[in-house]
Amino acid sequence: MDKSTFEDRKVINGSMHASLKHDSAHKHVTGAADYIDDIPEPANLLHGALGLSDRAHAEILGMDLSAVSSYPGVVWVFTGKDVPGVNDVSSNGKHDEPLLTETLVEFHGQPMFAVIATSRDIARRAARLAKVEYRDLPHWSDIDGALANGGAVVYDPMTLKRGEPEIEMAKAQHRVKAQMRIGGQEHFYLESHIAMAVPGEDDEVIVWSSTQHPSEIQHIVGHVLNIPSNAVTVNVRRMGGGFGGKETQGNQFAALAAIAAKKLGRAVKFRPDRDEDMIATGKRHDFLVDYEVGFDDDGRIHAVDATYAARCGFSSDLSGPVTDRALFHADSSYFYPHVHLVSKPLKTHTVSNTAFRGFGGPQGMVGGERMIEEIAYALGKDPLEIRKLNFYGQPGSNRTLTPYHQEVEDNIIHRIVEELETSADYQARRKAIIEFNRGSRFIRKGIALTPVKFGISFTMTAFNQAGALVHVYQDGSIHLNHGGTEMGQGLYTKVAQVLADAFQVDIDRVKITATTTAKVPNTSATAASSGSDLNGMAAFDAARQIKERLVAFAAQKWNVEPSDIMFLPNRVRIGDKEIPFPDFINQAYFARVQLSAAGFYKTPDIHWDRKAGRGMPFFYFAYGASCTEVSIDTLTGEYLIDRTDILHDVGRSLNPAIDIGQVEGAFVQGMGWLTTEELWWDAKGRLRTHAPSTYKIPLASDRPKVFNVRLAEWSENPAATIGRSKAVGEPPFMLAISVLEALSMAVASVADYKICPRLDAPATPERVLMAVERLKEM
Ligand code: MTE
Ligand code: MOS
Repeated sequence: MDKSTFEDRKVINGSMHASLKHDSAHKHVTGAADYIDDIPEPANLLHGALGLSDRAHAEILGMDLSAVSSYPGVVWVFTGKDVPGVNDVSSNGKHDEPLLTETLVEFHGQPMFAVIATSRDIARRAARLAKVEYRDLPHWSDIDGALANGGAVVYDPMTLKRGEPEIEMAKAQHRVKAQMRIGGQEHFYLESHIAMAVPGEDDEVIVWSSTQHPSEIQHIVGHVLNIPSNAVTVNVRRMGGGFGGKETQGNQFAALAAIAAKKLGRAVKFRPDRDEDMIATGKRHDFLVDYEVGFDDDGRIHAVDATYAARCGFSSDLSGPVTDRALFHADSSYFYPHVHLVSKPLKTHTVSNTAFRGFGGPQGMVGGERMIEEIAYALGKDPLEIRKLNFYGQPGSNRTLTPYHQEVEDNIIHRIVEELETSADYQARRKAIIEFNRGSRFIRKGIALTPVKFGISFTMTAFNQAGALVHVYQDGSIHLNHGGTEMGQGLYTKVAQVLADAFQVDIDRVKITATTTAKVPNTSATAASSGSDLNGMAAFDAARQIKERLVAFAAQKWNVEPSDIMFLPNRVRIGDKEIPFPDFINQAYFARVQLSAAGFYKTPDIHWDRKAGRGMPFFYFAYGASCTEVSIDTLTGEYLIDRTDILHDVGRSLNPAIDIGQVEGAFVQGMGWLTTEELWWDAKGRLRTHAPSTYKIPLASDRPKVFNVRLAEWSENPAATIGRSKAVGEPPFMLAISVLEALSMAVASVADYKICPRLDAPATPERVLMAVERLKEM
């Protein structure tokens, strides 16, 4: 596309970069926003429930479902044998994820059968009456178990290598070799998974699904019913949060609802309760990182060697791309002159882990930041000094090449970090904290300033495409549809802003409509933070087509040059006359101008060769930095986040209010991941943290007591994105790493900052206390 398109235009009505409110904000807070469970229910709606395994790994010898079937109110009970098409819901064509497992159980809580009944309560009660005979097989639910049992993988590992890491490691003045454990995370979207299917004529079925990926739901429903995609329509108005948890995990509920709806000729809804949702759907991958870093007396990194092993669960799902992205971010913001990185996507007898905000990137970066800490503590320096010393260089320097051979061409991390260092008064506060710690017996403080650099684009090149459908009606009102889904992140609002700006009309002239596979086909998941980049451009392309037709029409009708036609706020100037937008459109209609267009966009330039470990997987990088101060109680391990300052880069923001909301939300979600959210499986492979009573997400009272969030207003994306903006959904999640590092410094104070505390994540109060005790003993 023409790179001058955006710079050359003045934003006349200000809608594109303005802090307009989220289109549904008032509906979210008043309860008027319709989620799937709010849609008026069709007559004779039936409800489904899952029958889950209570073994982690076992052969199914027999299943007696008679008590389930005869429970009053039960209409149908079905197993994998009743699936009309293929009994598989794997998202990647690997066929390793049965919808209902028939002979082999591979995790505790795996769906084996489904119950359809007249009420949800009946379906759930009946589901517990199955008598299943198992033959137990050896199981392992964690990374250590997987490694001890041969280390089978669910996906081909990836290797990134550059330079001569072995030689340079051996030559380095200093070397540190250690391990880090990084925990997983439950998505905890407020709206749990849900799907409702309504049968249509012939082979047709309509599905409402809480999904980030309607096209995949369409594909999977077709696959399990053995019908073509053109018989399946999937609708999504909004999700009550997705966070990656609804990229593939909605498949099973939609598939079950659709099968039952077609079989019974009645509408069917599946809505697992919170516990079932937490047990039966995948989470963020936890990692074990084995690292070795070689560096010199100044703290400059010479070589890095790291293996990132991940708990993937029983099937591949998105674990390949997730562990790849971990490696793509193992460099954090640092140049590694010689590097060797390997992923190990390990098979475990647990639910299959999946996408979660950052998609492996956060785990990769936490590992990279741990290496910085190691260097700093080994040399007795401030970690920030080591960070700055190792940042990627400016273009033209010989320190710009990533481990995957992409040049970092848009590096602004130096400026971001320096501005934050000043505005957060980092140096003076660090001094004061060290002074405070000297005089404080039990309460210790820590401060850390950490950077973020996150690559934007799907690493699967084909996913970087999007479509939009725009209609302008005779009255001048505009109907907008695109392939992206709304999960609270404000995508619909941003794309509507793009369209309002293109036509220079007020935003309320644009009707945002629910995502549906019937309007825009073959869409990608709304993921990888690329929703507004891709769909914004597709909508812009649709508007461009319609405007070109309108300009041609007006030039001819009023006999003026096309350059004399201008779209002004809510009106069009044609030569020396101005016509209100609706009147202009009405005239165009009577002149038989086509007022509808399908727009399309694909990200230019990117390419990736996974085997070779080379390419340009990312269109650009988003940057940010955060500075956090904490206080810990060394007697209990409890802590408070006293203050966080953030400076984050969203390029030229499409909507600063929404973007600041994304930054704050992502930071707090990341903080939960690294502090209190702990997943725990028992010896039987049962997830014991499956409700808010046992799984602690951050409360409002856990937020930083002082929380200063700013966008880098001077930033413009050098890449030709919509309005020169940058993606915002995931990058700020990793700003939370400053919390972990600040906790680590507070712990380190008990040994006078001479030993790297090697604090694992999540740094729960127990873990902080244990780290303190360990250092005291050393
Ligand atoms: N914000 C809210 N409120 N709810 C969500 O579920 N998901 C995040 C992020 N922000 C999410 C969110 C994730 S994982 C991604 S990939 C992006 O939003 C997806 O939307 P985008 O591409 O439009 O930014
Ligand atoms: Mo986001 S993890 O890419 O859905």
